[in-house]
Amino acid sequence: MRQLIVPESARKSLAARDFVTDVLARVDVSVGGDSPGDIRVHDERFFDRAVADGTLGLGEAYMDGWWDADHLDVFFTKVLQGKLDDVADSRHRVFLHLKSRLLNMQTKSKSRRVAQTHYNLGNAFYADMLDPAMHYTCAYWEDASTLEEAQAAKCELVCQKLMLKPGESVLELGCGTGRVALALCRAGAEVVGVELSAELLEAAHAKAQAEELGPTLALGDLRSCDLERTFDLVLLPYNVLNHMLDDASLADALAAARRHLGPDSRLVIDTFQPSPAFLGDEPEKRRPILRYLDPFLDKEVVLSEENHYDPATQLNRIVWSYAVDGTQDARVEELTMRLFFPRELDAWVERSGLVIEHKLGDYDRRPFDGTSPKQLMICRLG
Ligand SMILES: C[S@@+](CC[C@H](N)C(=O)[O-])C[C@H]1O[C@@H](n2cnc3c(N)ncnc32)[C@H](O)[C@@H]1O
Repeated sequence: MRQLIVPESARKSLAARDFVTDVLARVDVSVGGDSPGDIRVHDERFFDRAVADGTLGLGEAYMDGWWDADHLDVFFTKVLQGKLDDVADSRHRVFLHLKSRLLNMQTKSKSRRVAQTHYNLGNAFYADMLDPAMHYTCAYWEDASTLEEAQAAKCELVCQKLMLKPGESVLELGCGTGRVALALCRAGAEVVGVELSAELLEAAHAKAQAEELGPTLALGDLRSCDLERTFDLVLLPYNVLNHMLDDASLADALAAARRHLGPDSRLVIDTFQPSPAFLGDEPEKRRPILRYLDPFLDKEVVLSEENHYDPATQLNRIVWSYAVDGTQDARVEELTMRLFFPRELDAWVERSGLVIEHKLGDYDRRPFDGTSPKQLMICRLG
């Protein structure tokens, strides 16, 4: 392997700085510029925070004095008119790269193939972009000064919010690299995780071993999973359901979750709310979303994204194209995900014999509404 040319922490910050600068430039805001609406950054942690937490992080970083602007009114006009939220959300997903979004699960063999190409990209690739525990979702920056600290704080918060008691049993369907499973183990739960991608599971195993944690991690298809027992808590965390591209897969996934619930168990579904504004805004247009120096190739890489959304099937085929040193399409990857509109998802869940006790709009427990980024459902047996 080539020797890294930049220390890891510096590389991450450089990439984050490029990413945020690039997103803001798309809405005509310069970092350090002197046009009305341009911003000044006072704390370099701003970039990591904006990347990890998107526009919410941007706002919180402002409150903490990490950046400011002479003309906030102009800044906000540019942000709103340029739909920064949609741009940033899309780019944020890709920056973290794994982001959720979905394998083609129309057939079992197809889903395995997509898992192999997308999630099995190689753990070195993800280790390069993420914190040491390889969390590929948003972090919690209150009191944290590094991505690693913010991710650890987020895990603690997840356990608190799940109101998990030590010794309780948890089944995570689609456990990936063990982000949630291991955090719950640390909190004293008895955890079983099921995952389709061998490579992600291997990463989860390695982390569990390093920390001497003892989750049971199994390679398998959650749709047909039957462990012949129930759990206090069953989780479908972070867009796992969006991998269920056809109705049979979705029904099977919900049935699998249901058969592991007892009378007092809870099921938590965590997915996102689709943004009609984003889907309607020339989604298939190729948009550059990230420019970075690849430390292994020692070359500049420009990553572009296209979203090919079919309203008839509600499937969004995302295409990521990598231009390496000016060579277009040096690498092209695709990921198809199914989008769930709110009432539709509720109906699917209820039709599967589950009762929705609560529906929340984000991890801060705000109630769900039309502007919510998330659809977080806490369900029980019907
Ligand atoms: C966005 S990731 C979420 C991972 C983890 N739950 C988390 O929150 O960090 C979605 C995961 O679901 C897994 N997955 C998708 N389809 C699956 C299936 N049919 N059976 C098991 N795992 C599946 C993917 O391989 C991936 O690890």
